[in-house]
Amino acid sequence: MASTTAPLPVSSNGVSSPAASGAAVPGDAPRDGNAVRVRGFTRRFGDVTVLRDLDLDIAPGEFVALLGRSGSGKTTLLRTLAGLDAAPADQVSAPAARAVVFQEPRLLPWKRVWRNVTLGLGRGRLKSGLGRVEAATALEEVGLGHRVDAWPATLSGGEAQRAALARALVREPRLLLLDEPFAALDALTRIRMHQLVLSLWRAHRPAVLLVTHDVDEAITLADRVLVLADGRLAVEEKVSLPRPRETGPEFQALRRRLLGHLGVEQAGPRDGAPLSFIPPAAGIRTAWNRAAAVNGHGVPYHGANGAQTNGAQVAGGLS
Ligand SMILES: Nc1ncnc2c1ncn2[C@@H]1O[C@H](COP(=O)(O)OP(=O)(O)OP(=O)(O)O)[C@@H](O)[C@H]1O
Ligand SMILES: [Mg+2]
Repeated sequence: MASTTAPLPVSSNGVSSPAASGAAVPGDAPRDGNAVRVRGFTRRFGDVTVLRDLDLDIAPGEFVALLGRSGSGKTTLLRTLAGLDAAPADQVSAPAARAVVFQEPRLLPWKRVWRNVTLGLGRGRLKSGLGRVEAATALEEVGLGHRVDAWPATLSGGEAQRAALARALVREPRLLLLDEPFAALDALTRIRMHQLVLSLWRAHRPAVLLVTHDVDEAITLADRVLVLADGRLAVEEKVSLPRPRETGPEFQALRRRLLGHLGVEQAGPRDGAPLSFIPPAAGIRTAWNRAAAVNGHGVPYHGANGAQTNGAQVAGGLS
């Protein structure tokens, strides 16, 4: 796959590059004032239609979370908005000032942290020394001011992901695309990253599209939660809870609805009764699986109904 931030290089995961296909790459903000505008967009891989006549608007400064079963097309949509995959300009518009953070930080190990942050910035800025200054400022903002000259191998997972956020930040994106950026982090680090992302979002106000499998993460962070199913945005839930969001009754009702849309049924907790859990389709994470979240990936999880599923697929709840 391609590197993380703009300018966005050609994909290396087998999708033909926009340049190679000669198709348009979205790079112009919509004229209607939105940050993102998608109309009637269809994406096929061979005979398989992944996105079908899809419509989406994201307002400037809006924080949108995107849920969906594994393989439903979330990354495909994100890559399209990132300009990594081709799309007709009359169907997909997104600002050229955009940045992507993936699940893995994708730092180049042979470049110091600050150089990773400035990767792809114009040579002029780097020659004038501005690049380092900007990198240091962005690193400071994500709490890594003391690791400007460190090597990526010496960073923890959370630090590396913060460096990836700094790399996105330094581009002053109007659209920040996040593809499961916290999925590989432990539960506590993930909560800190949530706080960090919210504070960066408040300070810089980019539009955000966060792809996640974690329903609680979506509700905790987003203004609006979407569910992608059958190639379309099948569900839209506005989250009007004030931030910081507590897991009160409204939160839980929304969680139940979203889990229902994702094909996950649940019961409890009621009066201390044990949680029952019907294993979801691969990739749906819920707060009901805290044991798996704590144990880490790959740990078999036994639901209350005795079914065994894979911790890597269900881990990741927060609260
Ligand atoms: N380059 C490709 N060539 C062929 N098929 C692809 C390609 N990229 C994605 N697909 C297929 O498109 C579908 C959607 O993939 P995508 O990565 O967008 O799913 P996703 O919702 O992000 O899944 P996950 O939650 O597991 O990350 C999958 O069936 C996938 O196999
Ligand atoms: Mg994906």
